[in-house]
Formats: sequence, C-alpha cells, structure tokens
Amino acid sequence: MIVILLGPPGVGKGTQAKRLADDRGWRHVSTGDLLRAHRRDGTELGRKAQAFMDEGELVPDDVILGMVDAEITLDDVRGVVFDGFPRTVEQAEGLDRLLDDTDRSVGLVVVLEADDEVLVKRLAGRRSCPECGAVYNVHFNPPETEDRCDRCGHEGLRHRADDRPETVRTRLEVYLEQTEPLIEYYGDHPAPVERVDGAQDVDEVATELARAVRGVMEGAAG
Ligand code: AP5
Repeated sequence: MIVILLGPPGVGKGTQAKRLADDRGWRHVSTGDLLRAHRRDGTELGRKAQAFMDEGELVPDDVILGMVDAEITLDDVRGVVFDGFPRTVEQAEGLDRLLDDTDRSVGLVVVLEADDEVLVKRLAGRRSCPECGAVYNVHFNPPETEDRCDRCGHEGLRHRADDRPETVRTRLEVYLEQTEPLIEYYGDHPAPVERVDGAQDVDEVATELARAVRGVMEGAAG
C-alpha cells in the first residue's frame, strides 16, 4: 500500500511516517531526508538543492521527481510511506505516472493538521542526531541526557538550519501557496483522504493514522 502524509512543516510527518513504516515493515521515503543526504555527500543534486532549502523554498519538481524515480523500486511492493512528497500538483501528477508504469496506485492520503503556533514551537525545539538521524524535541521529547543521542550515543544534537524563525515563516507560506492545493487535487483522486489532528500527542496521532490505514486495508481485502 502507498500512503502519503501531507501537512505543514513541523506537524509530525517524519515522526509518524517512521513509526508507521517500522510497525508495518514498509519503506519510509522522505524527500527532505534524501535531499539532506545528497547535501552531506556533496552530490550535484545536493548542490542544486542547497540554496532552495536554506531559503525555505521548494526544490524544482524535475529534480524531486528524478530523485524519487531513482529511489522507489518494484521491491517496495509491500508498502511505502511518503513524507514531504508530493508537495506540488506537478509532483502528484508525476507520482501517479511513476506508479502507473508499475501498476500501482496511491492507497491513502493523510492530511495532518495543526495551528501555526504549535508548528513554530515544535520546529524551534527540534533537534536531530547528525550520526543516526534520530529526532528529538527539547519541549516534547527530549533525549535522556541533554544533547546526547539516546539511540547511538552521539554527543551534539543539531538544530536544522531551516528551522530558524525567519525560514520557518517562509516554509509556512510556501506550504499554503504550493502544497495545500494538493488537498483539492486528492479530493478528485480515487485514493481516500483522511484528516488527522496533528496537534494531539504522538501516540494519539499514531493511533488515528493506524486506524485509517487498517480501514483501507480491510476495505481492499473485501
Ligand atoms: P522536509 O524535511 O520535508 O521538511 P518539512 O516538510 O518542512 O517537514 P519537517 O521535517 O520540518 O516536519 P515534519 O512534519 O516531518 O515534523 P517532525 O516529525 O520532524 O523538507 C525540508 C526542505 O527540503 C523543504 O523546505 C524544501 O526546500 C525541500 N524539499 C523536501 N521535499 C521536497 C519536495 N517534495 N519538493 C520540493 N522541495 C522539497 O516533527 C517536528 C518536531 O516536532 C520534532 O522535534 C518532533 O519530535 C516533534 N513532534 C512531532 N510530532 C509531535 C507531537 N504529536 N507532539 C509533540 N511534538 C511532536
């Protein structure tokens, strides 16, 4: 099954996508994480993406679609959870074409929602481990020892450069202008769309998300 998590920056797409993918043994595909990996590795794609990401703007659709095309394979037949992709109507159309070529289709779109005040606080408090990618929050989910990763023990958690308040403002505007119209696109799409309150705590959001996935899977099984 192919699940898309849509929603503004900081709403919890990454947190929930990782959890759902781990629970189900599915693949988690985050275009943000893929782009950050390209930047770390100094690839040409990473260099192309850098300025857009640092300004809080979207990376061009052709770059993103090429990256996703190279990333998803027929081995992902059991399931994929997309987080942060698609982000424009062009990307959504491109994904439909990619899936069509391999006789697959989007099974569920989940829109996570929360007020800007919640999002800004979460992004200000987010810290991640540069070594293993684990994500924490100084307000809501701090590591056991300050500034040390619980998972791999790395000292020195990082605050993402694009989580600075002025870049967060741009990212929220970009979401409203370029990504929110996707909700309408999926309204006319065969895949069901579920809205989930992302301001609830992590477990409550995960429970609602799992319920929505189960509903679609049971429906498909007849
Ligand atoms: P990307 O990395 O995708 O960033 P984003 O969509 O802005 O989303 P975030 O990662 O900021 O937030 P999230 O919703 O995943 O929240 P998280 O779970 O981390 O993209 C970065 C940039 O890359 C873009 O600006 C763009 O330039 C480029 N890009 C990426 N994809 C692209 C595409 N398809 N097209 C074009 N450009 C693209 O949670 C946030 C914090 O809150 C964490 O600290 C977490 O611990 C905490 N938290 C999560 N859930 C809860 C909860 N329920 N309660 C309390 N705290 C919570």
